[in-house]
Amino acid sequence: MKIAIASDHGGINLKRHIIAYLQEQKYHYHDFGTFSDESVDYPDFAQLVAEAVVKGDYDVGIICCGTGIGVSIAANKVPGIRAALCHDTFSARMSREHNDANVLTLGERVVGPGLALDIVAAFLGAQHAGGRHARRVAKIKAVEQKYSNQVNG
Ligand code: RB5
Repeated sequence: MKIAIASDHGGINLKRHIIAYLQEQKYHYHDFGTFSDESVDYPDFAQLVAEAVVKGDYDVGIICCGTGIGVSIAANKVPGIRAALCHDTFSARMSREHNDANVLTLGERVVGPGLALDIVAAFLGAQHAGGRHARRVAKIKAVEQKYSNQVNG
């Protein structure tokens, strides 16, 4: 599994912690930044991960900011992205099983580092359950398609 990861300055410490875990677990990942504590704009980094996932270069993305909210909103603007903001392991697992989430977002100022790694493990360890959930995800894609047609047409 190939993972695209990024953060803004507000999520950089949590991102570093998650990267250490990904290395330990021997996951293939790429860090899309940011690389310093200098203040940056979270939509820029959310977009880098979202586009890499939609292009198929990476299977899933992980994005951290202060709350996880801004990067979640921004990533979900990219057609094909289903970003899930999860601060508990149950939601992380369900976001994959039911919603086929392809991006996990986390807030460094919300969740502690230990729980964050459990959330990452739950997300990466789960798979889409298919069946009735596939029908619902197809409906999400249909909504996306409908509004992209309106914008483009
Ligand atoms: C940056 O201060 C902060 O706004 C950002 O990390 C994030 O929490 C936005 O949703």
